[in-house]
Amino acid sequence: MGTVALRIDALPDRAQTEARLRQLEEDQAHAARLCVLGEMVSSIVHEIRQPLSAIAMDIDTSLRLLSQDSPDLKKLRFNMARMKDSARRANELVHRIKQMAVKRDPICTDVDINGVISDSIELMAIETVARSIRIHCSLDPATPFVRGDALQLQQVIINLLINAVQAIELAPSGHREIRVKSKQSFHGVRISIEDDGAGIPEPLLDKIFDAYFSTKRTGMGIGLSISRSIVEAHGGTINASNGRNGAIVDVDLPREPAPYAELLDEAGEARAAVLPMPSHSPEFARPEF
Ligand SMILES: Nc1ncnc2c1ncn2[C@@H]1O[C@H](COP(=O)(O)OP(=O)(O)O)[C@@H](O)[C@H]1O
Ligand SMILES: [Mg+2]
Repeated sequence: MGTVALRIDALPDRAQTEARLRQLEEDQAHAARLCVLGEMVSSIVHEIRQPLSAIAMDIDTSLRLLSQDSPDLKKLRFNMARMKDSARRANELVHRIKQMAVKRDPICTDVDINGVISDSIELMAIETVARSIRIHCSLDPATPFVRGDALQLQQVIINLLINAVQAIELAPSGHREIRVKSKQSFHGVRISIEDDGAGIPEPLLDKIFDAYFSTKRTGMGIGLSISRSIVEAHGGTINASNGRNGAIVDVDLPREPAPYAELLDEAGEARAAVLPMPSHSPEFARPEF
């Protein structure tokens, strides 16, 4: 199966971004999102269980209050309001997970990349806290919005965070930190994710973005390739290198999509970042760290 080349002739700038995002084969992006959900299943279960347990406790105390001769209505009202709030939290979470789980067309908006980073870190919190991994986050408030699909960009950040967590788990050292940075750049924004793992062996630096390349026993090898497809569909670039401790992955995203001409290859056809899909269904098992 080769790559698909599409023409995006004479589209206005913004429509070009949308068309490029559509070029990402949704099957492939969807399969990768399901993988991410599989890898995050313990965080998700924990996050949903919390408000549900809170509701169960509030119901117990409310029933006890109601069994009294003259129940304290003020306390009951307070419990009810808290239950409503917990139900709303659980509902929001289910909505967010559903968004990741369903197939959908890309939605192009002006994306607050710092917000996407914070949301992704929040979603990963249980995974990192449980493993005593600290995430040090430094977000530049001057970071401009970028034109693109927030869910796809979140998918990139989460893929990179999962890789960083796994790298630290695979090569435990004294330091267990992931440093996430955003910085305004000439064209838009640079996001850097650096970890305290063992780094990436030099000969593998140009292989790790290949589809199905993995050095992990249960790795699918699609996290970085789908991330590169997404970033390139947004007119950006993604690069890996080694820092003082572990690996550094830099994602550069332009504020606005690049002019159409830059997307054309020598044959005058738009580049499409589409990977062949494996013939078997991916297993969405939680990888062993
Ligand atoms: N932060 C990192 N530190 C060290 N190696 C990494 C890191 N991120 C990715 N890699 C390497 O790149 C490979 C491909 O990553 P990825 O596409 O996410 O697939 P997977 O995580 O399923 O192996 C990994 O198997 C690993 O060898
Ligand atoms: Mg991965």
